[in-house]
Amino acid sequence: MSGIEVRVLADETAVAAAAAGMCAAWLRRRPNAVLGLATGSTPVPTYSELVRMHREEGLSFAQARTFNLDEYFGLSGEHEQSYRFFMQQHLFNHVDVRPYNTFLFDGTVPDPEQECLAFEAKIRALGGVDLWLLGIGGNGHIAFNEPGSDPESRSRVVAPNPETVAANSRYFAHPSLVPQLALTVGLATISEGRSIALLATGAQKAATVARAVEGPCSPDCPASLLQNHPDCAFLLDQAAASHLTARVSRERS
Ligand code: GLP
Repeated sequence: MSGIEVRVLADETAVAAAAAGMCAAWLRRRPNAVLGLATGSTPVPTYSELVRMHREEGLSFAQARTFNLDEYFGLSGEHEQSYRFFMQQHLFNHVDVRPYNTFLFDGTVPDPEQECLAFEAKIRALGGVDLWLLGIGGNGHIAFNEPGSDPESRSRVVAPNPETVAANSRYFAHPSLVPQLALTVGLATISEGRSIALLATGAQKAATVARAVEGPCSPDCPASLLQNHPDCAFLLDQAAASHLTARVSRERS
């Protein structure tokens, strides 16, 4: 039986408001909360909403610590397609988070395995992640944990599947420019987060969401492993929820 709480919201804006609200709730309860952050197109409206809350409602990130799920190997933070660049552009440059409290893998290090060990150690040293925000790939991947990933996996170097490279190539000038390797937190690293919010919007995610929520809990669909997490919510718009067969309550917003 899936332990995932499914919240079906009116649209992408409502999903962003709900996700930003969860981040804000952690920050208000615990100003030095540890937030786990995702890249991709899905969380962009969430980051816009957090910036708005910072500007208009005084939401402060001054003591917050952040970890990101993944980064391309070989790209520096100045590269426009690096996840560091994305985070600066969509969130960090617009709020009062301290640069030294924002942690992403460094994709330029000579020893990426060592970088992964150091990343895990840093998460532990800061007391673990309070809230992971996740997206979901078309094949059910979370971060860069592709189908077949070990549920006990930790941060490591991976080669994303061809379909993932193809999907992510939309951001690059040419598909051949997409890095073939990435650094990613592991499935165990994610599952140890105190709470998890997976965001999915749009009809193209509907079948994958249904597999993750209602399919077998299996590494074949890494997001389905979240069924075992004690505090995991999927925040979906109507389109992304459209393949769910069980009765789910649809929230008004
Ligand atoms: C990439 C990232 C994932 C992200 C996924 C979906 O592969 N590594 O963390 O969840 O894409 O991205 P989008 O939100 O653009 O659909």
